[in-house]
Formats: sequence, C-alpha cells, structure tokens
Amino acid sequence: MLAYAITHRARSRLIALQVPPAPTPAPTEVRVAMTASSINPIDRLLATGYGAVLVNPRGRFPRILGRDGVGTVMATGSAVSHLRVGQRVMLAVSPRRDGTYAEQVTIPGACACALGETMTDDAAAVVGYAGSTAVQALRAADLDPVRARGRRLLIHGASGGLGTIAVQMAAGWGAQVTAVCSTRNHAWLKELGASRTMDYEEARGLQTLPADSVIDFATPASEGGDRRHDPLLAALQRTDGRRVYATVITPTLGLVTRHGLLPGLLRAGADLAWRKASASLNGVRYRQVLFREESEALARLVDFFSKAQAQSVVQRVLAAPALPTEFSESTAPRIPGKTLVHLFPR
Ligand SMILES: NC(=O)c1ccc[n+]([C@@H]2O[C@H](COP(=O)([O-])OP(=O)(O)OC[C@H]3O[C@@H](n4cnc5c(N)ncnc54)[C@H](OP(=O)(O)O)[C@@H]3O)[C@@H](O)[C@H]2O)c1
Repeated sequence: MLAYAITHRARSRLIALQVPPAPTPAPTEVRVAMTASSINPIDRLLATGYGAVLVNPRGRFPRILGRDGVGTVMATGSAVSHLRVGQRVMLAVSPRRDGTYAEQVTIPGACACALGETMTDDAAAVVGYAGSTAVQALRAADLDPVRARGRRLLIHGASGGLGTIAVQMAAGWGAQVTAVCSTRNHAWLKELGASRTMDYEEARGLQTLPADSVIDFATPASEGGDRRHDPLLAALQRTDGRRVYATVITPTLGLVTRHGLLPGLLRAGADLAWRKASASLNGVRYRQVLFREESEALARLVDFFSKAQAQSVVQRVLAAPALPTEFSESTAPRIPGKTLVHLFPR
C-alpha cells in the first residue's frame, strides 16, 4: 500500500513509497482506511531525527508519519466493542507508532472514536492529535465542562492547532479566555471565543497575569527548545488565589536527543522536579503535558465539534502528493489553525 514515510534516522526526507499492507487487527485493534489527516509540528521534528531514541528506539524504518486523521473502519479485533466496520472514525496516534499518512492503518481501538453525521471529514481530520493534547492540557489546568465556568484562563500560543481548539472549548464551557498570539491573528481568536487578546510582548510585560490558569502552547523560537526561564510563570507567581500552569513545551525529547535515552530521561525528571518545586514554593501548581492516546479525549472532541457553534480550525488544505515538498522546507510556514491533508479521498 502507499504511505508517506521517513527512511532513516537523521534528517530524512519524507517520501511516498510502497509498504506492506496494514496487518490484520489483534483483538484490541482496528484497521482503518484513511481519508484525510493534518500536519503536526512533532512530525517535522521526527523527520530530523529529534526524539528518535525515545519514540523509535529499535530504529525501525521506513517510519510512516502522520499523527491523526479521519477514515473508515475496515476490520475490528474480537475485543473491540465500541466500533464497527463501515463507521467513520477520528484518530490520534502516539509518535511511538507508525502514523496515519497511509492508505490503511492498524491501531489500538482506543485511538479511534466514531463520528456522528454532523461532523465532516475535513473538520474531524485535523482535530485528533492537537485536540487530544489540548483537552489533556485543559484538564491539567483544572478546566473541563464542569469546572471551567467563570475561571480566568490565559492561553499563550493561542493561534495554532492546539490553541484554536482549546480557546473554543474553554470559552464554550464558560471560561473567560485571554488569548496571547501574534497580532495578525487577534480578530480570529475573538471570533473563536476569546474575551481578550494580547501579543507576546504585552503578556511578557505584565507584572501580574489576569488568570487563574495559564496554558503554554507557544512553539519556542529554537526548534525543539524549551523555556528554562519562563516570564509567564514568574508573573503568575505574583497573583493571588488558586493558580495552575500547564505547558506542552517540555524538554524531554530534546534532552534524550542531546544526551541519549537514559541520561536524557534522568535530566528531564530532575528538570521537572526542580520546576514543580520552585513553582510550588510560590503557590503555583506546575504541570507538563505530553500527548497520551486516550479515547475519552477523542470522545470529548467529537462531542464538542459536532455542535453547530463549533468553528472549523482549518486554514490551509494540501493534497497528499504535496507532503514531501511540505516536509522538505527547512522552516514550517507560520499559519494559524490547522493544515488539512487530503490523503486518499473516497
Ligand atoms: N507535549 C506534547 O505532547 C505536545 C503535543 C502537541 C504539540 N506540542 C507542541 O505544542 C506546540 C503547539 O503545537 P501546535 O500544533 O498548536 O503548533 P502550531 O499550530 O504550529 O502553533 C504554534 C503556536 O506557537 C506560536 N508561536 C510563538 N512563537 C513561535 C515561533 N517562533 N514559531 C512558531 N510558532 C510560534 C504561534 O503563534 P503566532 O503565529 O500567532 O505567533 C502558534 O500559536 C508545538 O511546539 C508542538 O510541538 C506538544
């Protein structure tokens, strides 16, 4: 079958190639024929060899990229009861597995959630990975449909895939959202539900943040970088009340890439312990969020984005043959929202 994959560890090009068919599902797995997917920053990093010692320790190549998408269930394992053949599903898969840029994928049943009539393929294709991480970050920041009402949330990096999904969900649940992103994206963030917008400079200059919770989704300027000194955390420490800081910008993959698997993981553990302890001395709960395959997060996304008031976050559309060129660009285009990839439309 046709797939888009990298073929070796360091600075590999993404190429279209024939790979063996997706295997027959094990009891807890499903096989899905892919229709569409999206682009996530992690795949660009994986193509440079970043994090390979952790996500692909055995060096298995070719490695298919693509972390999410939409497709149709072709076969189910004997223990899968929540999905049936012929259903349209939304997917999200860990960087530890072969991805979704393929005609068919065999994945754990927990990585797929059935779609209702009201959610289009294009809307569902872009939400799985970014949306699951956004839901997990919102939860880490004490926000869900029950706890969000009236809570003041600041989202740093609100205009990307994670941010545009999280802003809509938090605002829809009744939180007061301040969106921090480049000024050119402010009008769209207001449409998505932000009650206030700021650019990065303004947020950095604040003595105290207008927030009970802060979530950081902003890609660091250096690829794969993280923030040792974090001015947002410092400003949050000066406010009063219950405060929580959740970030998806974690040093783990960078540290294992630079220092090797075990020393990198030890450093990441020590770094996390130091950050948690220093934040807690100032009354802030500090949390790092790493994407996890989770059927509840997918179900929450399907529920939210099936409603009439949810807005599409697609800002750009590519056809699958454009993927190799897209991944050969040294810097990602700075486009808000999500890029949809039409893979194998039916
Ligand atoms: N921990 C995890 O498991 C996990 C999972 C998914 C994603 N992530 C990470 O979370 C971040 C956001 O993911 P995403 O899918 O939302 O990415 P994205 O769509 O590319 O969005 C990037 C966001 O960062 C902002 N940004 C600020 N400075 C930037 C810079 N120098 N270069 C590029 N963007 C910059 C952008 O805002 P403006 O353009 O408005 O300035 C935008 O809001 C990425 O770094 C990604 O690798 C982590």
